[in-house]
Amino acid sequence: MRIGVLTAGGDAPGLNAAIRAIGEMAFRDGHEIIGVANGWAGLASDYAGAPLTAKDLRGVIGQGGTLLGTARYNLDSPPGGRDQVLAAIGQHVDALIAIGGDGTQRISKWLAERGAPIVGVPKTLDNDLMGTDYCIGFDTAISIVAESLDRLYTTAASHHRVMVVETMGRSTGWVAALGGLAGGADMIVIPEFPVTMDDIVAHLEQRRKAGLAFSIVVVAEGVNLSTLGGVELSDLTTEGVGGVRLATRGVGQFVASQIEQRGDFEVRTTVLGHLQRGGSPTAHDRIWATRVGAGAYDAVIAGQFGMIPVVRNDAVSLVPLSVVAEGQRKVPREIYDLCALFF
Ligand code: F6P
Repeated sequence: MRIGVLTAGGDAPGLNAAIRAIGEMAFRDGHEIIGVANGWAGLASDYAGAPLTAKDLRGVIGQGGTLLGTARYNLDSPPGGRDQVLAAIGQHVDALIAIGGDGTQRISKWLAERGAPIVGVPKTLDNDLMGTDYCIGFDTAISIVAESLDRLYTTAASHHRVMVVETMGRSTGWVAALGGLAGGADMIVIPEFPVTMDDIVAHLEQRRKAGLAFSIVVVAEGVNLSTLGGVELSDLTTEGVGGVRLATRGVGQFVASQIEQRGDFEVRTTVLGHLQRGGSPTAHDRIWATRVGAGAYDAVIAGQFGMIPVVRNDAVSLVPLSVVAEGQRKVPREIYDLCALFF
């Protein structure tokens, strides 16, 4: 059997571990593994698939990024991209494993509904896919956030400053909340639990009164500027299927400037940006990416198409692609309250 594999959307540490697992299992069973370059782009107009060899997979488990390349490729503009992908699957592979986030899995679901032999793998650094406790890349991201906060802590303490740290998180606050919890953040601002600038400044003043002269405030990039008293810009950079480039909204910088204006604080801003997506995956991401990759391979061999392996209660199980394709899994109240215990 020719099993195609692609990675689509933003890259995330752990993708190579999943590709490696799929590839090694295919070699073990005598199947061919076709690496499709640059996500859906590699199946649309110009086919870009090539067989992977054992050598291609050697030493990749510790490498970030994706050895296949990825892209935020819009199959609907110009129209017809989905049909090209459908035709390319029929022509070039007997089954396809698509590793990606909700956008990718929406396409996978559309293809599966039209008979494509397709299986997904959950990946988003934002950790907000529905129906799964694990998404490839998240553990590495929060480890980077935690380490960054450790480093900012010493300089903040030395200068008695407020450090505002902007994290990734397009629609949800998982990276900010759990990265902030692990790094000892003094306040965490996420889309799920809006606060005003008055709340933030009051909290910092209260800390100062309690003798805590410095603070670290973590803000998710997707926080609504208008709830903070700002204005959403209308001329934001947008791209492919990625939507608005959130970092251009400058929510961290906005929070920092407001703290400085409203209170007598010296403030600095750090936008962690793509540092959260780069470099070597954690052991957790390597192991669980391997496990969901293996789950996808098993689903292909069992002919369970239109499905995706997810992680629930420390076990991999298969669910229909429709479970993960729509909506976002939000940070629950209990997790936010636990974070707030340390504010
Ligand atoms: O969706 C994952 C994500 O990492 C978001 O947190 C972030 O807003 C976005 O991708 C950045 O995408 P790009 O790499 O295309 O700028």
